[in-house]
Amino acid sequence: MSNLLNKSLIQAQLNSHNIQLDFFDEINSTNEYLKNAQKIDKIHVCLAESQTAGRGRLQREWHSPFGENIYLSLRCTINKKAAELGGLSLLVGLSVCEILDGIPNIKLKWPNDVYHEDKKMAGCLIELLPNSELVIGLGLNVNMEKANLDRAWTSLKIISGQEQDRNALIAKLIDKLIHNLKIFEEQGFEPFLAAYQQYDYSFNKMLTLQSGNKQYQGIARGINNEGHLALFCENELRYFSSGEVVSTRLI
Ligand code: BTN
Repeated sequence: MSNLLNKSLIQAQLNSHNIQLDFFDEINSTNEYLKNAQKIDKIHVCLAESQTAGRGRLQREWHSPFGENIYLSLRCTINKKAAELGGLSLLVGLSVCEILDGIPNIKLKWPNDVYHEDKKMAGCLIELLPNSELVIGLGLNVNMEKANLDRAWTSLKIISGQEQDRNALIAKLIDKLIHNLKIFEEQGFEPFLAAYQQYDYSFNKMLTLQSGNKQYQGIARGINNEGHLALFCENELRYFSSGEVVSTRLI
């Protein structure tokens, strides 16, 4: 198989410094690996060719076949309180969109799913650790062409018709994430608001949102400065810091 992960190729294309890169042919989950790793004085990145227990949000499985996609986790410190981290996952989805800027019709489904024409292409799982550390896990479907999944999905290869260079994409992703995380740490989500709005999949659509054990139905009116979803429901505008969009339709 061509186009396997190559540490030297990634390092040669990276602009960021002070990064520890760990690679595996197979691992249970790159997030799990970094959560259990010793704290180091660098940004710690883990990449794998395949995951045997890749996890998504809400305990879903993340399909992780060998050599086809990107399974990347990054562990770092962000000096912010947990309550100020609301926009962080949106920022990760946005970072993916920004590196795919040549591909038309890429959208973000709040909070951080990357979609192309109603099919999911990437998702992110953030896990908080003690002492302001966190692990950001990102799954991006790159060269996958076949998979029997219960949700509509797509990949960069399906969209573009061309095999994609995962090493180049990984270097771009790491650089973009580190750049955006630094801005987020200093200025919060507000500097990213306009960029997020360009990709907002849900804007002015009728949504059903599962938040806690309640479902809310209303019209999505974008997001606020903190990345909270604005939903016009029950005759008022309500803001949600967390939740899962369970359905979307045009009005
Ligand atoms: C989602 O959309 O539900 C989030 C998916 C996150 C998947 C990535 S793949 C790399 C990292 N390791 C995991 O086990 N999960 C994340």
